[in-house]
Amino acid sequence: MEARLQRRIQRYGWDRAAADYEAFWSRQIAPAQEKLLEMAALGEGERVLDVACGTGLVSLAAAGAVGEAGGVLGTDISEAMVTEARQRAAMRGLAQARFERVEAEAELGTGGAFDAALCSLGLMYVPEPETALRGMKRAVKPGGRVVGAVWGRRERCGWAGIFEVVDARVRSEVCPMFFQLGTGEALRMTMERAGLREVRVERIETRLEYANADEAIGAAFLGGPVAMAYSRFDDETRREAHAEYLATLEPYREGEGYRVPGSLWWRGLRCKCVQAVAIPSPGLVF
Ligand SMILES: C[S@@+](CC[C@H](N)C(=O)[O-])C[C@H]1O[C@@H](n2cnc3c(N)ncnc32)[C@H](O)[C@@H]1O
Repeated sequence: MEARLQRRIQRYGWDRAAADYEAFWSRQIAPAQEKLLEMAALGEGERVLDVACGTGLVSLAAAGAVGEAGGVLGTDISEAMVTEARQRAAMRGLAQARFERVEAEAELGTGGAFDAALCSLGLMYVPEPETALRGMKRAVKPGGRVVGAVWGRRERCGWAGIFEVVDARVRSEVCPMFFQLGTGEALRMTMERAGLREVRVERIETRLEYANADEAIGAAFLGGPVAMAYSRFDDETRREAHAEYLATLEPYREGEGYRVPGSLWWRGLRCKCVQAVAIPSPGLVF
């Protein structure tokens, strides 16, 4: 798909999802975000770039970690996401966090102004993730950290059926490359191609838990990137799409609720996130 079209789909899709995003996703993705922050090992007074920051879940946690002496710049392609993030920062009195609508691949021209650059569950949506990582590398100073988290392989993500259900009802695929970085090696190789060194990749397991079908439907159709396509469906198409998606989740139904996976690593079905941190050697000039 043409990169420009993909960016438009993401931008306006996430604009639609922004108001519902945290209600449906903050609990589910907390383990991935905590791991990312742990790998970033942020310290008091540091400056942090958070690419594809969404509503600022990671940016605001980072702002807490770096304190008033530090600073966080969150960037996102979606204006509505940036607005949500600004509001949340203001409500929590985190003046050290600021937010701008900027695409992940855009040249920030910051010339090593940051100690760490983060991207939590955003690289899968970017047409050229290598370019985005290159920009993150340029944004951090020598010895800084670049940390990204992406979803794992398609066959290990039980909710992956959402894309087929929606794509069958629209003209262009919503997230054509969602799972392209889904293996540890793909993420590692992309990071290394972007010039990052000492790349460390870790996998974590998590499970998406929905109390009932409405929650599962809301998370998939309202709180994510298919929200724009879905907003154009008529009632009949929505009903069909809901039923088809729930059928894909049927193996993970437990009573009224769902526990959606994931890999079969060991007992139970789980979702898998791949996290990577690349730490340039101290003094290494990019
Ligand atoms: C799943 S959300 C993750 C948000 C946040 N990082 C978090 O962990 O909660 C994905 C975000 O990626 C953003 N995004 C998608 N494509 C993008 C692009 N090309 N450049 C910048 N942001 C993008 C979306 O607008 C959305 O806010």
